[in-house]
Amino acid sequence: MAAPAATEKAQWSSRFAFVMAAVGSAVGLGNLWRFASEAGENGGGAFIVVYLMCVLFIGIPALMCEYAIGRASDKASAVQSVTDVARRSNASTAWSATAWIGMIAAFMVVCFYSVVAGWVIAYIPKFALGMFNGLSDEQISAQFGALNGSLGQEIVYMTIFVALTVWLVARGVNEGIEWAAKMLMPVFFFLLLALCAVALMIGDAGAAMSWMYLPDFSAINPSVAVSALGQAFFSLSLGSAIMITYGSYLPRGINIPRSSAIVGGMDTFVAVVAGMAIFPIVFALGMSPDSGAGLFFQTLPVALHSVPGGNLFGTAFFVLALFAAVTSSISLLEVSTAYLVDKLKLSRTKMAIALGAGIWVVGALCAYSDAFFGALDNISGKIMLPLAALIAVLFVGWRMTKEIRDQEIEGLPAPVMRVLYLLIRFIAPAAIAIILIMGAIQQWAPGLYQSIFPPQPAAVEEGAAPGALEDEDTAAEAEQAEEQAETVPEPEG
Ligand code: PHE
Repeated sequence: MAAPAATEKAQWSSRFAFVMAAVGSAVGLGNLWRFASEAGENGGGAFIVVYLMCVLFIGIPALMCEYAIGRASDKASAVQSVTDVARRSNASTAWSATAWIGMIAAFMVVCFYSVVAGWVIAYIPKFALGMFNGLSDEQISAQFGALNGSLGQEIVYMTIFVALTVWLVARGVNEGIEWAAKMLMPVFFFLLLALCAVALMIGDAGAAMSWMYLPDFSAINPSVAVSALGQAFFSLSLGSAIMITYGSYLPRGINIPRSSAIVGGMDTFVAVVAGMAIFPIVFALGMSPDSGAGLFFQTLPVALHSVPGGNLFGTAFFVLALFAAVTSSISLLEVSTAYLVDKLKLSRTKMAIALGAGIWVVGALCAYSDAFFGALDNISGKIMLPLAALIAVLFVGWRMTKEIRDQEIEGLPAPVMRVLYLLIRFIAPAAIAIILIMGAIQQWAPGLYQSIFPPQPAAVEEGAAPGALEDEDTAAEAEQAEEQAETVPEPEG
């Protein structure tokens, strides 16, 4: 006989545990690898200003909606939570589409995420054992292509990462997820601040700061806005049913608006501080900040190689990235694990291992084919995550009963509440719908996208110096790629 629901459903042991787990999910490779490359390609300060507005006005309200749905129900998985709250609100159970789409998207994300995290693991011994010593810049940069071209190596590193993720999820909400987040996140913050301080001292702090914080407002265009909003969603783990699931482990008495603001604030803080750890070094060597996905695995190692203490700095940076990646991947796996454990009544360990095997197979396909990697990344990131988030926000704004809503989203003064509902009902859905449509056009009608957002103006306008280096850089990269006779993929995150 099944145990009563109350004992089946896990709960965070404290507010600190919840905040660390939620921040752990949000803070990940998205803040380091993806944020830096997006900011770099979209004009630095211009992107950052729009990004901050997206987090504040759209991301944080959307977080509140997902937590509210999760906590409003005592069910054990996101799909059931939404179904349950929809029933109680006399709304169609089709609203559970937010959890279904989110859960499938989370599974897709964790597959390619594990490949990238595998690259991160591969770079730790490279720095720690001084394997870059004595190499030329080209040789260091070419290491990424070599790693990428070796399916065997990629699979070995990915396997380590998937095994780690499975192990933590199998240990459960308190002993696994919460434990990892409470241990790793504080170390992560400490390392990040230390690295940022070092980078500001040894790098070109002035150039980095003015590029990041003195926005060239003329560089803001619709394409920058779409990228910024997409990045905000990815970074806050929105639309992946994760925050609904984590919300369902939330005890009463924890204030949802406040927690959402803390999670959104900390996630943004990490992205910005990571930028301040990366860009001063990139600028100090006169390198271009807009080398995209290569920034993290090519530009940064080359830059670190030529600064004093670079090996130590590099080891610390990639260890930190690994911590961030693990606390995100456990959240990505937890969503489907929670659903299947409840549905099939199998043990958590068995389910986590079975899903881990699935991730391993799909991850290996991503490592094998850049096209497959890109497709998975684009469809999940540009279509599924925003779509699931849109459904969640619309549900809370328009269909959830007022009683349930007021019980979950509470503790704010009336005028703030009114603004919040304006955001939840109108602004956020409209903005998400726009990124969704733009993402779909970009995916399925690239020609049309190009005519809406001609590629040139942003790159030309955005700050003279960095933009000017772009062509040279691309040419150099192309040469390297030829030399290695291996294509370096350009994952967009
Ligand atoms: N937010 C995590 C990061 O920034 C990754 C993630 C993306 C998690 C999408 C869930 C959904 O790395």
